[in-house]
Amino acid sequence: GAPVQVDISGLQPGQLMTVAWRGKPVWILNRTPDMMADVKKADPDVVDPNSKNPFSMPMPKYCQNEFRSREDHQNILVVVAVCTHLGCTPTPRFTPGPQANLPDNWPGGFLCPCHGSTYDLDGRVFKDKPAPQNLDVPRYMFTSPTTIVIG
Ligand code: FES
Repeated sequence: GAPVQVDISGLQPGQLMTVAWRGKPVWILNRTPDMMADVKKADPDVVDPNSKNPFSMPMPKYCQNEFRSREDHQNILVVVAVCTHLGCTPTPRFTPGPQANLPDNWPGGFLCPCHGSTYDLDGRVFKDKPAPQNLDVPRYMFTSPTTIVIG
């Protein structure tokens, strides 16, 4: 499929947008400093903290870091919104609330409504969930400070 150009100039800290790429939803999340801190906290609780075991596409080399993002825009997360269990679309949940089967320390992230897999704000799956792998990170680049090209 063709690369997709996205204008993120209106994407405020803490906001998420969804775009279509290769027929799949892709999330772009502008993470706040608190959200970045939550990613660090989740490191011991996720299956694959360093994204060594990619799902359906290779992990871009420039995203092989703790924040699974480009170092010059570390706060911006770009992930494919397809659960690695059976392909449902997870639901963004940035404020933890009372809900069954969520880890007590879940800082919010993405919750799959189908079988309860939870992902952190990096798209990394938590331990003991049906989903085996982290959400895919597509290839992407910035062509301006507020323009991303995915694919
Ligand atoms: Fe997401 Fe099963 S499809 S947990």
